Amino acid sequence: MSFDLVLFGGTGDLTWRKLMPALFQAWRHGKLPADGRILAVARDDQTDDSYRAWLHERLQAAESAKRPSDEEYAQFAQRVHYLRMDLSQPADYTRLSDWLNTRAGGAPADTVVMYLATSPHLFPMICEQLGASGLNGERVRVVLEKPLGHDLASAQAINRAVGAVFSERQALRIDHYLGKPSVQNLMALRFGNALFEPLWRRESIANIQITLAECLGVGTRGDFYDRTGALRDMVQNHALQLLTMIAMEPPSSADADAIRDEKLKVLRSLKPFDAASVARDVVRGQYRAGTVQGGAVKGYLEEDKVPAGSQTETFVALRCEVQNWRWAGVPFYLRTGKRMGQYQAEIVVSFRPTPHTIFPGAQQPNQLVIRLQPEDGLELRLMAAQGGLNAAGAGAVQESLTPVSLDLDFHKAFASERVGAYERMLLDALAGRLNLFVRSDEQEQAWRWVEPILQAWRDDPSGPRPYAAGTWGPAAASALVARDGVAWAEEA
Ligand code: BG6
Repeated sequence: MSFDLVLFGGTGDLTWRKLMPALFQAWRHGKLPADGRILAVARDDQTDDSYRAWLHERLQAAESAKRPSDEEYAQFAQRVHYLRMDLSQPADYTRLSDWLNTRAGGAPADTVVMYLATSPHLFPMICEQLGASGLNGERVRVVLEKPLGHDLASAQAINRAVGAVFSERQALRIDHYLGKPSVQNLMALRFGNALFEPLWRRESIANIQITLAECLGVGTRGDFYDRTGALRDMVQNHALQLLTMIAMEPPSSADADAIRDEKLKVLRSLKPFDAASVARDVVRGQYRAGTVQGGAVKGYLEEDKVPAGSQTETFVALRCEVQNWRWAGVPFYLRTGKRMGQYQAEIVVSFRPTPHTIFPGAQQPNQLVIRLQPEDGLELRLMAAQGGLNAAGAGAVQESLTPVSLDLDFHKAFASERVGAYERMLLDALAGRLNLFVRSDEQEQAWRWVEPILQAWRDDPSGPRPYAAGTWGPAAASALVARDGVAWAEEA
């Protein structure tokens, strides 16, 4: 297969921090099809050579195992090209079209992927121009990076503009969480094994927690983040996508639409919020100065480019329910925050306690932990007998039980084959595998669900609750789950 991959936003952060390193790794792993070119597109006046030198410098910032040697870079860079474009100028799309026709041998590439790593307000214009220049034929796919809209109306406007030029199967919406190996493993766990499926329902599961905690603050993105906030940045997309993977019915096949149909049904089954349930079941927070991993950090309001008195949330915890036969009454707790004590992303499935106990002492219910970050793994928490005399004492007839874990470290199990999320998504985009991309109706439904929360917050001047950087968020987040007799995993 031959391909041309066009990176709009070719000098932007996403390109050099995520996309180019992922493409380099794909190349290094021998996964990038041999006959392929990568074209970075941006406004700067650069040549192929100056862009390659610029990129080389940036790739040196990667951790040492991922850094290209000079020899490797020289080989990889032969595939990298640069085209200066003013995205509002039709003539520049003609130049792009000409460039795409300059392949050795004369034949066009089998696949052309237009990756829009630009600000989303440019998406409609770029798509329109691509369409007007005939760059939307069957072999062309367009990849759209989040944030896709700011609310339902803006997301629909973008989808309409994209849809006027590209079919749904040509438009690939990225949620990089879906490319994480542990999320792949969630599908494998649920639908490649018979063990859990009979238990995967309200009769056996007491509650499910999804935590996406970061140590990082907003860095240099204060202005973007302040317009966005944690609900739009992490919940509307990543957290809800994980929830759909956990809660979906088994799809009839691995076909992209079979999977996306089931995910959509989950989103449609989420109990809608209103002002009263937002006040009761959603906690928003904002970090203050504190200590993260031993280092002092400033508060959100002191961050660069954050307006004084901002009420943007950097933390959200919420309780929701999936209203269908499988999940009725099972609380799903979602939590995400910046400047938390630990970089940790995990899903904790807590099973119901045994209906009757024959052992002395307290027993902890079983838990299945699907760990996404920092390392991906799977842990099954069980109760076991140590096989000795313990706290129950020498005279006790029965031994009390001890919590133990079955721990699966995917890195150890599959050391040589792990690929990063962006590497996986880029290779899927080139190959036209759509399973891991979000369909427009899923994305719009997710917006529909979060909108009442945004509205309730706009109407409530009290703003987010403060929490010290380096903690697990405001105390109200613990109170939210304590109401159901539950504790967050780290507090249990
Ligand atoms: C992005 C958000 O989508 O995901 C960022 O915009 C966040 O704010 C990032 O830091 C987290 O991704 P990961 O893969 O590091 O958990």
